[in-house]
Amino acid sequence: MPKLNDSLELPCGVILPNRLLKSAMTEGLANTNDQATLRLSTLYRRWAQGGTGTLITGNVMVDRRFLERPGNVVIDGNGGEAALQDWAKAGTSANNQLWMQINHPGRQCQRQVSARPLAPSDVGIDLVGMFGRPMPMTEIDIRHTINRYAKVAATAKATGFTGVQIHAAHGYLISQFLSPLANIRSDQWGGSLENRARFLLETVAAVRAAVGDRFAISVKLNSADFSKGGFSHEDSLQVAQWLSDAGIDLLEVSGGTYEKLALMGDKSEDTSAESSQHREAYFLKYAEGIRNVTKIPLAITGGFRSLATMQHALDSGAMDVVGLGRPLCSQADIHPLLNGEQTSLPNWEKELRLGPGWLGPQSSNQKIRTLNFGAATQWYYRQIIDLAEGREPNTHTAVLRVMLKHMIAERRMAMNRVKLLTQG
Ligand SMILES: Cc1cc2nc3c(=O)[nH]c(=O)nc-3n(C[C@H](O)[C@H](O)[C@H](O)COP(=O)(O)O)c2cc1C
Repeated sequence: MPKLNDSLELPCGVILPNRLLKSAMTEGLANTNDQATLRLSTLYRRWAQGGTGTLITGNVMVDRRFLERPGNVVIDGNGGEAALQDWAKAGTSANNQLWMQINHPGRQCQRQVSARPLAPSDVGIDLVGMFGRPMPMTEIDIRHTINRYAKVAATAKATGFTGVQIHAAHGYLISQFLSPLANIRSDQWGGSLENRARFLLETVAAVRAAVGDRFAISVKLNSADFSKGGFSHEDSLQVAQWLSDAGIDLLEVSGGTYEKLALMGDKSEDTSAESSQHREAYFLKYAEGIRNVTKIPLAITGGFRSLATMQHALDSGAMDVVGLGRPLCSQADIHPLLNGEQTSLPNWEKELRLGPGWLGPQSSNQKIRTLNFGAATQWYYRQIIDLAEGREPNTHTAVLRVMLKHMIAERRMAMNRVKLLTQG
């Protein structure tokens, strides 16, 4: 059975140095031209030196008009290739893998960035007024957007990244295309699962054509959206098979959307009775299903904290790579885990009562859960900034203070961008 320290050869020939993967975490560290910065280089040098074999960047946007949040890096003819090269060099400084996550937010684009985001259909998302009503994409919008993913992948390769990940999870554009709730189109891009998956599969094909056969392509996919009538587990199994046929190298499985926060382990969204058996590895049972239908290399992300659970998951044979997000915000150096000296990674939600439940008991009110999610995420953003600025992460910082500072900083960044874009 594989151990955490074992390498893994992917179908494209790329070798992952070990079985740990740093999952994508949006950094918000771009400059006002949406270019990479030295802070990103510092951050990824620390993660690379910390021993995690594969690092996935936070989501990099394909279109300057539509961001997941101000501070996203964008590759859209806005220059900044030298900074990308610097980022790639720092992020591969331990001979590890550094893959760029590529994304378009679709309707999950904050109102302060765009009041009319593009999405598959005119189906809005009602979350405390954060998002504008989307405009349905035309055939030309769709074709142009697919080309944008391919161009960003080509730039990633040209600037020294060793792979790319297409973000098809968490309710962003591709995930919206996959969902029958967000995608109510009646053309070749909506309706049957085959049509809803067309955007993803055409994007994978365009990216593969842009980067060639020997470059790693990963897809992050929801095991399910956890919404009644949404992208289901059965849908996910079928899409995983199609992705395997399309020749991707690693499937990373996660789940949920902004509306259904399973990605952060919100148990109130979990519809299955056995969930408590896998309190740490939220999506392991789904991975078992995917493993039964395809042999595609599989990473699972969500809730892994103890060495024993990680090893148990690898021993189960259902997955090949352990994805880690939040623990790496306060601990960049993972060597103690890899050499067995550390048996458990920090679980701050438990200690600080962050995350779902922070503002009170596990709330049945979705708006409160969304606020909790925002608070927890912003607390982690703070640790990421500490790492990026060369400090030790401050885990004692108060949540409300962090939220306030974050909101002011993000608003300022959004306004500066708007000024710059309207001038240009
Ligand atoms: C601060 C933060 C930022 C995140 N940004 C992204 C992102 O850009 N892309 C993505 O696919 N997932 C993102 N996620 C989700 C993580 O990749 C991961 O799926 C989630 O945190 C669950 O893993 P964990 O329990 O190990 O933290 C983010 C999570 C956090 C905490």
